[in-house]
Amino acid sequence: MYAFITGATSGIGKEIAYLLAQEKMDLLLSGRRVAQLEEIQADIQQRFFVKVQILPADLSVRSEVYELHKLVSAFQPEIVINNAGFGVVDHFIDSSLDTELSMLETNIVSLHILTKLFARSMTKGKILNVASMAAFLPTPKMASYAASKSYVYHFSEAINYEMKKVKPSIQVLSLCPGPVDTGFAQVAGVHMALPGISAKKCAKIAVKGLLKGKRVSIPGFSMKLTRFFVRFIPTRLLLAISYRLQQKK
Ligand SMILES: NC(=O)c1ccc[n+]([C@@H]2O[C@H](COP(=O)([O-])OP(=O)(O)OC[C@H]3O[C@@H](n4cnc5c(N)ncnc54)[C@H](OP(=O)(O)O)[C@@H]3O)[C@@H](O)[C@H]2O)c1
Repeated sequence: MYAFITGATSGIGKEIAYLLAQEKMDLLLSGRRVAQLEEIQADIQQRFFVKVQILPADLSVRSEVYELHKLVSAFQPEIVINNAGFGVVDHFIDSSLDTELSMLETNIVSLHILTKLFARSMTKGKILNVASMAAFLPTPKMASYAASKSYVYHFSEAINYEMKKVKPSIQVLSLCPGPVDTGFAQVAGVHMALPGISAKKCAKIAVKGLLKGKRVSIPGFSMKLTRFFVRFIPTRLLLAISYRLQQKK
């Protein structure tokens, strides 16, 4: 059985690839950095004796997203993990519009396209969309990133509900991590304000949730607690807290 993972060149996606290989799944790995994909391909094949295909693509370019779906579909994956994404951290008036638009294409549009096309074309299986704890919070200085993850989370929840009615053989799950030590902070050009969990720990929780068909996985007790309490905190206070945290980045 094939599992398809976007953003498999580093961080959470790469660790998920290793864990699924341990489960004896064959892999379809995507990302832009071909050298990293080739290194991971060789290492996984040698250690776990599973098939690994690499399918490089830039998900901020729509034509490449459609092409990727076409290539991946030929392998009939039963697991699709929309993990690729990045963040922009700055005051909204100062951040680059081009970078933000590229982020929205990657975090939202490509995930939307792949979720729709795979939800249609797969006969059974699971789609795991990587959101974030930021999905639950309006986040000054990270406004568009947090809003992109709110999209991913609410979109996945709603479609998962729909699928139970119209195509129960497919589940659309989400993963909502808090801070994770990956290349994410470097790409965003910041240092994390809060200590992160390892990408391996995050991936373990993601894969456990995926295999169990858990609707929403939130790695770490403190993040589960945060998720619970933010419902009761007035938005004005939440905004002030999250702005302070972003200022520390
Ligand atoms: N780290 C955190 O604290 C954290 C917390 C919550 C949620 N997340 C989410 O977790 C996911 C994985 O991030 P990570 O933390 O593992 O960071 P990461 O190590 O920087 O990994 C990001 C992955 O996304 C891929 N990617 C980025 N832009 C792309 C594009 N235009 N086209 C194709 N692939 C692209 C990168 O591959 P290439 O560079 O090779 O293209 C890389 O494999 C993201 O969706 C992120 O928003 C992270």
